[in-house]
Amino acid sequence: MAIPRDFINELIARIDIVDLIDRKVPLKKAGKNHSACCPFHSEKSPSFTVSRDKQFYHCFGCGAHGNAIDFVMEYDRLEFVDAIEELAGQLGIAVPREQGTGKRPDQGLSRDLYQLMEEANLFYQSQLRQHQDKQKVIDYLEFRGLSNDVVEQFGIGFAPDGWDGLLGRYRQNQAAQDKLLTAGMLIANDNGKRYDRFRDRLMFPIRDRRGRVVGFGGRVLGDGTPKYLNSPETPIFHKGNELYGLYELKQKHRDPQHVLIVEGYMDVVALAQFEVDYAVASLGTATTAEQFQLLVRSAKQVICCYDGDRAGREAAWRALETALPLLKPGDQVKFMFLPQGEDPDTMVRKIGKDAFEALMQDAMLLPAFLFDTLSNNHGADKGALAKQAIGLIEKVQDTVLQNLLLENLAHKLGMNSSEDLKKKLGFAVKKAQPLNAKGLQGRGTPLRLAIALLVQHPHLGFGLEEQAALKRLKMPGVDLLGHLLEITREQSLNSAQLLELHREHEQKSTLIKLAQWDHQVADENVLLEFKQTLIWLYNQSIEQLYQELSLKQTLTKVEKLQLTKLIAIIKGKAT
Ligand code: GTP
Ligand code: MN
Repeated sequence: MAIPRDFINELIARIDIVDLIDRKVPLKKAGKNHSACCPFHSEKSPSFTVSRDKQFYHCFGCGAHGNAIDFVMEYDRLEFVDAIEELAGQLGIAVPREQGTGKRPDQGLSRDLYQLMEEANLFYQSQLRQHQDKQKVIDYLEFRGLSNDVVEQFGIGFAPDGWDGLLGRYRQNQAAQDKLLTAGMLIANDNGKRYDRFRDRLMFPIRDRRGRVVGFGGRVLGDGTPKYLNSPETPIFHKGNELYGLYELKQKHRDPQHVLIVEGYMDVVALAQFEVDYAVASLGTATTAEQFQLLVRSAKQVICCYDGDRAGREAAWRALETALPLLKPGDQVKFMFLPQGEDPDTMVRKIGKDAFEALMQDAMLLPAFLFDTLSNNHGADKGALAKQAIGLIEKVQDTVLQNLLLENLAHKLGMNSSEDLKKKLGFAVKKAQPLNAKGLQGRGTPLRLAIALLVQHPHLGFGLEEQAALKRLKMPGVDLLGHLLEITREQSLNSAQLLELHREHEQKSTLIKLAQWDHQVADENVLLEFKQTLIWLYNQSIEQLYQELSLKQTLTKVEKLQLTKLIAIIKGKAT
């Protein structure tokens, strides 16, 4: 599963971040750097800069920063692995995977699977135009009120009746058949005979975030059962990780204000037809944590839409429980319940876009839905209500939301403020971290300067001999310097590559701050300054050792020798 580090390293070396960003956000040369108005916040004068040397971008306005991978993740809203795939795709190279213990498909296989899924998709679409039974499908689409445009936009197709509509196209190609089986498009019976999984169904292709078809949902053209048949889990399709309609949404809105999550394929499509073109559906299951992550990454406001019946309320509650621990400051989740007997498809057809959006506006905020449900669950039993509430509130990571919920709970329990409640419950409510980067003003300590210089000019460390003195030195931060020296002496890296190696590192945020810190050392003096800080650190280590030894009551032979040497060194420096 894992992508080899060497590959990521090479990717960053081969992609030029200035070219990459310039294609999406036109850059102007400004001194050594390139700049533009920041794509990640709105501004009138440019504070977004891109450095070709460091292969790094940074916005002085909003603090956005990172390397090519971060840019693609933020700008195209992709997950890490998808961003790597995207960049590799731009270079026309395949992403290798390290051999894991799991039974992950090799890259060649999944490439073929995507190819075959796309072929199946085109086949189903063509049947909508060509098949002898096409009229009944067209009639059904008309009955459901789907426009040609929206059918085309979502790539809806038709899987004809019969056992080998799709299979028949690969009669002579056993290898392709094997892969179609893996991809869930064919089924093998007990005798090994293969046949089409999807027969006589309206086909909804499910695309991943990069637009590749990874699965299908197939609906019967009428009242048969099962109403929907979905692709099984396959090497390229994991239901819990995908959202139907997310790719189509992103095609319309790069930066959607809100995302509406609904239950069905038909709902997504009907809403889009009525220009509520920001709906997605989880694939016939409860919304998973992965799907929620995707949603809150896509838009700040997520509206969960459910039927007004008991099942709808229960589904909404499960979504709430999933969402609570994932929410970050600024995320907003609302819950919307439709009148009995309606779903978003029927509703939007009945009342139209504006009235539907008005309903969305009136949706319940998460705290309201939470306490409403708790009150329904527990009635007058305040103890039980408090117990369940606390269990939920403890899971919340967003301290603002957590405090808000505690205030609400205190109010429900008839307390004046949440302070008493927190004390009573021994609730350690975390204080929000102030955002100032303390200690980064001015030049900071020599150690800090050394690390900053090395992060910004990793070639300084290349080929440098091992700094044994640093290993002895006891000083906060010295381990980090030693660690960076170890990496940079072995390989020639740029800043972006060095930071990439630390994506998961506990000191990542320190490194990023230092990568952007304006150390005020002129380019021509960088090497000299760096050497001087190393010398300063070396002296510190001597000093420290001397202190230690001279404070000892008794010294071993070796230590005595060391001490004499140290005294000589210190004396030597004094002269
Ligand atoms: P229409 O009846 O065509 O309007 O479909 P819908 O989108 O309104 O579906 P419904 O609300 O009945 O179900 C919501 C979602 O649950 C569907 O989009 C499917 O993903 C899933 N689903 C519904 N029925 C079935 C079924 O019989 N089998 C499976 N596997 N999933 C189903
Ligand atoms: Mn429906």
